[in-house]
Amino acid sequence: MALLEVSDLTMHYKTRAGWVQAVDGVSFSLNRGKSVGLVGESGCGKTSLAMSLLKLLPSNAMIKGGQIRFDGTDLVPLSEDQMRKYRWAHISMVFQAAMNSLNPVYTIRDQIAEAIKYHTPMSEADAWRKIAALFEFAGLDPSVMNQYPHEYSGGMKQRAVIAMALACDPDIIIADEPTTALDVIVQDRILKRMDSIRTEFDMAMIYISHDIAVIAEVSDRIGVMYAGKMMEMADAFTIFKKPKHPYTFALMSAFPSVRGEKHELVELPGEPPNLISPPSGCRFHPRCPQATAVCTEKEPPFSEVDPEHFCACWNPGSWQ
Ligand SMILES: Nc1ncnc2c1ncn2[C@@H]1O[C@H](COP(=O)(O)OP(=O)(O)O)[C@@H](O)[C@H]1O
Ligand SMILES: [Mg+2]
Repeated sequence: MALLEVSDLTMHYKTRAGWVQAVDGVSFSLNRGKSVGLVGESGCGKTSLAMSLLKLLPSNAMIKGGQIRFDGTDLVPLSEDQMRKYRWAHISMVFQAAMNSLNPVYTIRDQIAEAIKYHTPMSEADAWRKIAALFEFAGLDPSVMNQYPHEYSGGMKQRAVIAMALACDPDIIIADEPTTALDVIVQDRILKRMDSIRTEFDMAMIYISHDIAVIAEVSDRIGVMYAGKMMEMADAFTIFKKPKHPYTFALMSAFPSVRGEKHELVELPGEPPNLISPPSGCRFHPRCPQATAVCTEKEPPFSEVDPEHFCACWNPGSWQ
């Protein structure tokens, strides 16, 4: 059984202009100790999906259907009180722009200690010992834990946030654009550090990025989201070498290769649609060079085109 099994998850936001269909019928699973990378252009629903998994949603959000089975228990019907047992202790998250959310008036040590003691009652001294160990895992010198956030560089803050996400020994960490604000070398170091933490603790990770090149190397599997839908999911190698969805292919072509081979960068024209009234049929059809008549009328099912390779397209791989 998968550690996390998401099936047909649908979460919409209510707005004055109508319902924003931010997550629509998304299914995927994640095994213990494995990593999945979620990619897609900005506005495709990646953060909405992540927040839905933890049910940390704004008041205008509504989970309209589907299941989020964690270790066999569906989280969707759970109360806020019951959810609190799962957050941080089982599934924790490094939020998008988390490094800016550290509280400036407390030392980093006190902020992490508070999170630890909420879930696991322990003495201050034990909490501090634990934080020192977490700092080492995250690649920070424990001697800086008494400092305030403004004394940290961007990279150090991000490592502190990762230490915080590790604090309650979660089974899954969701990292939403964890390194986007950092320079490329620091990004790479931090992701590699997270990856070694995952192996060491047999933890599962969900990495989210708009840039597939950033998370490719640390993701066992990659899921490609477009306009609130999961369009394709397969192991990272297949996604790079043999994508079946024209959107995946376009995304691959729009970013410089991370695996060494050189190819010409192709522009992906247009932008993701408004999710209040998304296109009929396949939501990608207006931008799709392979679109045929059926694509404008009927939504393609997310089906297994090869073993463990899922794709929602009427003409998968038709350009090959
Ligand atoms: N609180 C909200 N209320 C209404 N719409 C929202 C809210 N948050 C996000 N959205 C919309 O949901 C869609 C998906 O956004 P998001 O999940 O942030 O995408 P991503 O993380 O892939 O950039 C976008 O159309 C965005 O405008
Ligand atoms: Mg986002």
